[in-house]
Amino acid sequence: MDKPSAPLSFDYSRIPAMPASVFVAPLRKPTGLSDDWLEPAQRKYGLDEHRIWDELYLRQIGLMPGHACREFMLGLERLNLGGGGVPDFNEMSEELRSLTGWSVVPVPMLIPDHVFYYHLANRRFPAGNFIRTREQFDYIQEPDVFHDVFGHVPLLTDPIFASYMEAYGRAGWKALKYNRLKALSALYWYTVEFGLILEDDQLRIYGAGILSGPTETVFSVEGRSPNRIHLNVDRVMRTDYTISDLQATYFVIESFRELFHFTEQRGFEPIYESLAPAFQYAKTAALDTDHIYHRGTQEYELRGGRGSGARPA
Ligand SMILES: [Fe+2]
Repeated sequence: MDKPSAPLSFDYSRIPAMPASVFVAPLRKPTGLSDDWLEPAQRKYGLDEHRIWDELYLRQIGLMPGHACREFMLGLERLNLGGGGVPDFNEMSEELRSLTGWSVVPVPMLIPDHVFYYHLANRRFPAGNFIRTREQFDYIQEPDVFHDVFGHVPLLTDPIFASYMEAYGRAGWKALKYNRLKALSALYWYTVEFGLILEDDQLRIYGAGILSGPTETVFSVEGRSPNRIHLNVDRVMRTDYTISDLQATYFVIESFRELFHFTEQRGFEPIYESLAPAFQYAKTAALDTDHIYHRGTQEYELRGGRGSGARPA
């Protein structure tokens, strides 16, 4: 009989090597930055850029009660993100450090996955240094400072969610070893970016991709179109997702403790070893094995989604 193999151990204090077999979209690192992709300081924003933050903040904050989860609301209050203009990363980090040991660090743009894992594993959240223009007010694909700070940072004040984020970063080392980055990205997508949580039997949002824009804040919780399914990590890692439109399916957790439990104590090896090369489930799928809270009509998706003029419903 084979002896069980020893658990893998990794050095999380160094940037993991990117195996030659792992394909990632090439990103050009701006000259002058080290391998950690960190900018030396937060950008000095112009007056109009601070105003753009204020307008985005005002538009979004009004929608938060009744949509955002409790822990997010508490984090927003603690960090005072509406004090006027783009928040100062150093001040935010000081508060975060005292609460959960996290900090916010500036990066110029999207950074490679393995560098992202390295920062998360060390409780640093890389935030886009730039802010969208007025032309991009309603939609921007690249994560800017509003998405990263307003959407992501409040929950880093919550100790359990903060631990989940660190555990997610650490999980990156194994995903690299097994060449399963897409599967791990699907987990990030359906939790950190587009996750819903049940709070006193009501659906609430914790995903930053939803909370940083008004349309999906309403659509994800109130829309008829999308599926809402209880989170199952094995299922989520096999599920395709939408990058530049509203999601066809949202996965729901019952608590952050449950989310942490689903991931931290799982090795993921059995999932990685059994995964097919491509995603197995379409983003609109609702399976017999799913615990479905709401089976979506998918009417937004069927009408063609963004670009077709279909109204989110
Ligand atoms: Fe994000």
